[in-house]
Amino acid sequence: MRPITLVTCAAAAALAKPVDFVVIGAGTSGLVVANRLSEDPSVTVAVIEPGGDERDNPLVYTLDGWYQVQGTHVDWSYDLKGPPGPDGKPRKLAAGKGWGGTSLINGMTYIRGNTAEFDAWEDLGNPGWNWEALLPYYKRSELFTVPTEAQIAAGATYDEDYHGFEGHVRTGYPSTVKNTSFSPNVTQTWEGLGFEHNLDLNSGSVHGFSVSPSTVDPEQDIRWDSARANYYPIEQRRNIKIIQGTVKRITWAEKRGRPPKKGITANGVEYLTPDGKTKTLAVKKEVVVSAGALRTPLVLEGSGIGNPRILKSLGIDLVVDLPGVGENLIDQTNTVQAWIANFEASSTQFQAFVTAADLFGDDLPAVEASTRESLSSWSQAIVDASGEGALDPAAVETQLRLQHDLIFKKNVTLAEVISMGAANAGLGNGDTPVFGSAYWNLLPFSRGSVHLRSADAIDDPAIDPRYNLVDFDLQASVAAGKLVRKFWASQPIAGSVSGQVVPGPDVLPEDATEEEWESFHRAALSPNFHPLGTASMMARDLGGVVDPELRIYSTANVRVVDASVLPTQFSGHLTATLYAVAERASDFIRGKAKRN
Ligand SMILES: Cc1cc2nc3c(=O)[nH]c(=O)nc-3n(C[C@H](O)[C@H](O)[C@H](O)COP(=O)(O)OP(=O)(O)OC[C@H]3O[C@@H](n4cnc5c(N)ncnc54)[C@H](O)[C@@H]3O)c2cc1C
Ligand SMILES: *[C@@H]1O[C@H](CO)[C@@H](O)[C@H](O)[C@H]1NC(C)=O
Ligand SMILES: *[C@@H]1O[C@H](CO)[C@@H](O)[C@H](O)[C@H]1NC(C)=O
Ligand SMILES: *[C@@H]1O[C@H](CO)[C@@H](O)[C@H](O)[C@H]1NC(C)=O
Repeated sequence: MRPITLVTCAAAAALAKPVDFVVIGAGTSGLVVANRLSEDPSVTVAVIEPGGDERDNPLVYTLDGWYQVQGTHVDWSYDLKGPPGPDGKPRKLAAGKGWGGTSLINGMTYIRGNTAEFDAWEDLGNPGWNWEALLPYYKRSELFTVPTEAQIAAGATYDEDYHGFEGHVRTGYPSTVKNTSFSPNVTQTWEGLGFEHNLDLNSGSVHGFSVSPSTVDPEQDIRWDSARANYYPIEQRRNIKIIQGTVKRITWAEKRGRPPKKGITANGVEYLTPDGKTKTLAVKKEVVVSAGALRTPLVLEGSGIGNPRILKSLGIDLVVDLPGVGENLIDQTNTVQAWIANFEASSTQFQAFVTAADLFGDDLPAVEASTRESLSSWSQAIVDASGEGALDPAAVETQLRLQHDLIFKKNVTLAEVISMGAANAGLGNGDTPVFGSAYWNLLPFSRGSVHLRSADAIDDPAIDPRYNLVDFDLQASVAAGKLVRKFWASQPIAGSVSGQVVPGPDVLPEDATEEEWESFHRAALSPNFHPLGTASMMARDLGGVVDPELRIYSTANVRVVDASVLPTQFSGHLTATLYAVAERASDFIRGKAKRN
């Protein structure tokens, strides 16, 4: 049972001065909100974050640090449920800890997605959420530096109309984007396979190939995380502070009983200090939960918001019945293939995005029909795997059908392929320089979950990604894998490589069978580190947790602003969209502040 929290004398002494806003988590999204809210000197903002100030950590700011930063104190490095990795140990999900959150350790790729993928959010019960509405926020968040002539020649093209030049998040091209013979070789090979050079991957259409911007400061040639963007420049403001701590739960103004019609009101948060003391911080206006897709559900469950059956088993009193909390976890799976490089491996990375028609060719109509017929059985499988009465099969099917329409009617891209040399990819084995591709199915149908393991296990989420629960997800990865092999076997890039080394010929021979393709992809998969959807912005009867203003249903003053609210995957990398969503959320909150 959860101990009842009494405000004893000691606890009362620990009460800090009340603040107007508390942001839970100084991560990618949370610091955007904290920055925007504290622009108004008359409001006070506290951010609570377990990690610390990492501005002087070279693994955080150097371009190639992110290969080594995983597993250090800046990475929560969560164990995953489900099949172990190739080393027999649980697969790990990296997630950043510290001022900047996961932006401290990510791969820096800045790509938004396809218009139709964001327009679909509107169809999930979110009026006003679509590409048109997001575009001004993408631009507001961005400070784009155009590529040099040599980088344009290397493939880094852009369309000025789609970029912002006054935001906080620096985007541009690091020194690793170089004009070498790799670029024409890649370009001519993709063109030979029928793909076009995409002028700008951030224009709302990602089909084709290009060299995307990264979240970097090209002048200093360093990574640009959310703290560099949103916090260090304003840290001298007197109305904002970061408190080191881990939030256990939100506290409520109302006593037990039926929640009021306008929703229940948060009046503070309870957090653990690094030395294990429990403290309470009183909040006058709003609580913003930004602990990330893997941790926000834990904070909500700890606060009594979630699936009644799960809360009961944890001994936590129900405050708001929202069975979608922690469900709808969607990540992608990443696979690598690599070949021995005949020439100096280049450091430029090319992204290519392909549709189902590109992947399945003449088989497309058959694939479209068989997947459409499977939607209801997939929905049932997702419901069964999740258990605890969390999901409704009809609601899940509505979501899968929308996704099927995106893939097969709206022709959005289904796979991403990043091609590069070994120098910047962690590809290959040992010292052999390699060329290769990392690739993934962008729109998996499988759904996983994340929940509290026990009422006190706030640092140890039970994450079950359920990769490839839906077999089509694996087939789409395999189709992308076949395209990757075809690419590296096509001229002129074929001239740059000899024998394949990842995987070895024993695993995937030239004439590999369908079973060999599938078992390779099943065994070699790594998480793609894009988990989202665990407190989705969606109609409540579809399993949604927050409304279109990102407020938790049945609460008056608690919002979620992080990857948890993104209800679906899309053909992008998450930070570009998170920065835009957090800017928009800040407007919602400030609008409300003005009305009051
Ligand atoms: C290895 C890797 C590579 C990636 N590559 C890319 C890429 O190239 N491009 C891209 O766009 N995206 C990439 N991503 C994904 C992207 O970085 C994340 O989706 C994004 O940063 C998540 O932002 P967020 O605001 O949702 O959460 P986070 O940035 O994770 O912030 C959550 C914060 O909350 C804190 N917290 C957790 N629990 C609590 C609690 N109980 N109380 C208080 N605070 C708490 C955490 O310490 C953290 O600081 C990558 C991710 C990883 C791991
Ligand atoms: C890019 O490289 C090619 C081949 O070396 C060269 O001809 C061209 O001038 C370079 N372009 C720029 C802008 O540096
Ligand atoms: C590109 O192809 C040309 C012709 O085969 C070759 O000379 C050059 O080294 C290749 N470049 C790379 C980076 O593979
Ligand atoms: C999608 O592609 C199919 C053929 O692959 C085509 O018939 C259809 O018109 C396309 N739809 C859109 C919206 O582009």
